[in-house]
Amino acid sequence: MVVDPMDWFDSPGPLEVEIGCGKGGFLLSRARANPHVRFLGIEWAAKFHRYAADRFARWQVANVRILRTDAKVFFERNLRAECVTVLHLYHPDPWPKKRHHKRRLVQAVFVEAAVRVLVAGGRWLVQSDHEEYFDQIRRLLDARPDLEEIEWSDANAGAGADWIGTNFEIKYTREERLIRRAAYRKRSVETGPNQR
Ligand SMILES: C[S@@+](CC[C@H](N)C(=O)[O-])C[C@H]1O[C@@H](n2cnc3c(N)ncnc32)[C@H](O)[C@@H]1O
Repeated sequence: MVVDPMDWFDSPGPLEVEIGCGKGGFLLSRARANPHVRFLGIEWAAKFHRYAADRFARWQVANVRILRTDAKVFFERNLRAECVTVLHLYHPDPWPKKRHHKRRLVQAVFVEAAVRVLVAGGRWLVQSDHEEYFDQIRRLLDARPDLEEIEWSDANAGAGADWIGTNFEIKYTREERLIRRAAYRKRSVETGPNQR
């Protein structure tokens, strides 16, 4: 079944999606700061999903929806093409043991699905404290001719002065751990690498 998240909002408009939104702190701040934007959080863990859903209800934010599902399945099978303006992926579970790497969310098939759901010009922001997983993600994204890396600070999509850290970001910043960040933009067909 193909789903159009716009059906869940009162009016159409730009849509930002956060995968693995945890307790929803980042989404809540961002949604309150950007009332004209629609936000969808996707969270697999029932306890975090419940926590975040309660939080959004308490704050009565009208422009956020949260879905409890596996983002991998949702992106690959259900989400309508070209509907996401900004994709936020922060501190995805690194599954550090080698035998668990296959559980990582960001693999070639997922990247294909994520690029499919981005609008032309849409951005994908990713950050991680796990060097090896971050490098793997970058390799996968760099290999896509339909994505171009942009400056983190160039992403008006959230990396500007109003940037509000996620729970993990706040925690790791306090611990002075290095956080790696990258931002990509989906090329429009006209500005693909061969058209330049
Ligand atoms: C390490 S935490 C990071 C939480 C938050 N992004 C942050 O930066 O504070 C990863 C989160 O992603 C969720 N998650 C992991 N795999 C997921 C998937 N396939 N679909 C949806 N959520 C997922 C986990 O339940 C967890 O809440």
